[in-house]
Amino acid sequence: MSKSTCTVTINGQKVKANVGDTLIDAGLGGRLVLPHDCCSGQCETCRVRVLSGQVEDLGTREKNTVLGCLAMLEGDAEISYDPVPIVKNTKGTVESIRKIKEDYLEVRIKVARTIPWLPGQYLRATFSGYPAREYSPTTPLNLDAEEDVIVFHIKVYPNSVVSSKLGSEIRNGHPVKLRGPFGNAFLRRQPEPIVLTSTGTGFAPIWSIAVAASQGQPGREIRLVVGSRTRDGLYMRDAVRWLRNHGIPITLTASDGDNETVMTARPYELLGDLTSDHIVYSAGAPSHVDATRALALEAGATFYADPFYVAEESSGLSTLAGSLMRKIRPPSASARA
Ligand code: FES
Repeated sequence: MSKSTCTVTINGQKVKANVGDTLIDAGLGGRLVLPHDCCSGQCETCRVRVLSGQVEDLGTREKNTVLGCLAMLEGDAEISYDPVPIVKNTKGTVESIRKIKEDYLEVRIKVARTIPWLPGQYLRATFSGYPAREYSPTTPLNLDAEEDVIVFHIKVYPNSVVSSKLGSEIRNGHPVKLRGPFGNAFLRRQPEPIVLTSTGTGFAPIWSIAVAASQGQPGREIRLVVGSRTRDGLYMRDAVRWLRNHGIPITLTASDGDNETVMTARPYELLGDLTSDHIVYSAGAPSHVDATRALALEAGATFYADPFYVAEESSGLSTLAGSLMRKIRPPSASARA
């Protein structure tokens, strides 16, 4: 008769579990809460390392990692994950909404209680009276960070349910609830070189990672490749200046670039050499994230992703209208293969 119980060791702590339990359920049985959010294989928050043992990855394996909400125990196993801040709720109000560039806003939320997050993680924000949206908190473009202020970069889409109301119906003083942080694409303080790449407002997590790595790990090799559909979407001029002043190379690219200051190739074509030493962080459009994932994994590099998806949030008839939000990644064919 096959064994129906097993032992899973999670960050060094042994837990009794049932064969067939997901890693998250196994952890809960031992009062260990693995980081998670969607519990459906979409957000990547629950990605853990399998150090040894019998785990059915259900197609979620990347190098030695699997998604804890889907992968199941087939027997004894040992797993580990990087500690992250505890998920918290907090309330706040909109402190300011600044147009960085046409259709791009820097929105600051003053919070009653700080909500710790790691560079690259995301929060769920609910502007009172509107549906929740997920955004990456980031470093202000001019670096004037305050502990009780959360900063988001938000692209405005016409007729969208949330983003198009910012600055009109959602103004300074508007109440906001925040929950988080979530996500697995956060900065780890390893010494290996990092390659950071984004499209659109995927720059928000990438920028916060770049600043934290540069300030916290002087000497660590960092390079960025940042793309947008058109030059108008390259809203990060102040950040580019700061990065270059700190000796961090950043390549900008857009379809209407001049091939001098702004390239025209797709961002993933400009990543440069990748080796198994590199750690690649990618954020933005799913097609960009998938392309960089393929290149990174082919090179044996470590890969962390923060894909953004366009929410169907149009209140009108336009099916194209929406607000760029994140996550909700349908399991891709390649991930399931
Ligand atoms: S909690 Fe597992 S992917 Fe979201």
